[in-house]
Amino acid sequence: MKNVLVVGGGGREHAIIMKLAESPKVDKIYCTPGNGGISKYAQCFNVGATDIDGVVALAKELRPDMVVVAPDDPLVLGMADALEKEGFMVFGPKANAAIIEGSKVFSKELMKKYNIPTAFYEVFTESDKAIAYLKEQNSYPAVIKADGLALGKGVIIAQNEEEAVAAVHEMIDELKFGKSSARIVIEEFLTGPEVSVLSFTDGKTVVPMISSMDHKRALDGDKGLNTGGMGTVSPNPCYTEDIAKECMEKIFLPTINAMNAEGRTFEGCLYFGLMITPKGPKVIEYNCRFGDPETQVVLPMLDADLYDVFEAVCTHTLDKMDIKWHSGSCACVIMASGGYPESYPKGIEMKGFDDMGQVEGCFVYHAGTKLSEDGKFLTNGGRVIGVTAKGESLQAALDKAYEGVAKIDFEGAHYRKDIGQRALKALS
Ligand code: AMP
Ligand code: GLY
Repeated sequence: MKNVLVVGGGGREHAIIMKLAESPKVDKIYCTPGNGGISKYAQCFNVGATDIDGVVALAKELRPDMVVVAPDDPLVLGMADALEKEGFMVFGPKANAAIIEGSKVFSKELMKKYNIPTAFYEVFTESDKAIAYLKEQNSYPAVIKADGLALGKGVIIAQNEEEAVAAVHEMIDELKFGKSSARIVIEEFLTGPEVSVLSFTDGKTVVPMISSMDHKRALDGDKGLNTGGMGTVSPNPCYTEDIAKECMEKIFLPTINAMNAEGRTFEGCLYFGLMITPKGPKVIEYNCRFGDPETQVVLPMLDADLYDVFEAVCTHTLDKMDIKWHSGSCACVIMASGGYPESYPKGIEMKGFDDMGQVEGCFVYHAGTKLSEDGKFLTNGGRVIGVTAKGESLQAALDKAYEGVAKIDFEGAHYRKDIGQRALKALS
C-alpha cells in the first residue's frame, strides 16, 4: 500500500485527492496545507504550499511513497527539485521546466524558436518603448502580459490606447506584480473558442487528457472581472477529433521535444491553454500544473488508477499505460464568496453538506473552506467550493451540478447560472 503527500490546498488538490482515494493501492493521503473539505479525505498539516524547507521536512517525517506538488508557485520555486534531491518520488516538473509557466517571455521565445503556433509578440522592459510600439501598431484590443506569475491576473486585454498605456505603466513603472511585471509581453489579440487541454507527460510520451472549457469571467454572459475560473465543463465540444490531431502534431509533441532540446525535460502535468483561431489552434498559455477548475471536471472522467498514472510519469513508463476516459460529460459550478474577485468576507457558516462536506449526487471540491472548532464548515476564500457532477450528456451533468448548488447555502454566495451554455450552443 502506498502513502501520498499532496502539496496545495484548493479545489484542484481536493479533486486529485478524491481520485487518488479511489485507488486500491493508496492507503494514507496527506495534504499540506489542505482545507476544511480536504481534511475529511486527507490528513492535513500546517506547512504552506510555497515553504520548500517546510515541505521537505514534512516529507522526511511522513516518508510518503510519492509527493504531488500541485500549484505553480512552489514548482517554479524548485520544490520538485528539493524533494527529489532528498530521494522522494515527485509528481511535478523541476524548476527548469516549470519556467514554461513561470516566464511568458521564455514560453513565447520557445514557441518562436520551435515554430509552435502562437500569437505574434514583442518583449519590453521599458515603458516608453512599449508605448511607442502600441502607438505604432495602433491595433486594439491589445494583449499585455506580465512576464512572471501574477496569481492569474497578469493579462490585460486593453480595448484602447488609454487602457493599454495605463497597463504598461502599472506593470513596468509601478511594478504592480512586483518583479513579475518588470518585463512584459505585448501580443496580437486572437479570436476563437478557448480550449484547455491538460496532459500527462514523462518527457518521452505525451498523453492529452479529456478536453475542458473554463469560464473565467465573474458574471453571466462572460461579463464582469476575470477570475481564477467560475466553472468548467468537459469535454469541450469545440475540440473536435481533427483539431486534437492537429494539436498533437503541431503543438503537443513539438512542445515536449522543444523542452527536451533545451535540456528542460518536462515531467508532470503540462497544461495547454489553446485558442481555436480561424487559422488553426494556437497556444495562449502553458501552465506547468493541473488547471483549476479544469481538474475538477477532468479527473472524474479518468477511467484509470491515478496513482498508476502518476507513477508512470515519475518512472518514465507512460508509453506502457493505456489511459481511458469515461463517456458522457462532467460539469463544475464554482460557488464564490460575496464580492469575489474583489474583497470578500471569510468565516461565514455554510449549510447543506453532509458530514464529509458533500451533497448527494455530486462531488463537492472544497477550494476555500475551513472547519470551525465545533466541526462546522466555514468559508475561507474567494472561490469556496466547486460543485461537480457527471452525466450521460452535458445537460444532464449541468442539471445535477446545479441541483447540488441549490442544496448549499451561505450568506453572499454567488455563482454563474450559465456554466456550459456556450458548450451546449456549440453542440446544437
Ligand atoms: P491567461 O492568464 O494567460 O490564462 O490569460 C487570461 C485570458 O486572457 C485567456 O484565457 C484569454 O481569454 C485571454 N487572452 C490571453 N492571451 C490572448 C490573446 N493573445 N488573444 C486573445 N485573448 C487572450
Ligand atoms: N483555470 C485556469 C488555470 O488553471 O490557469
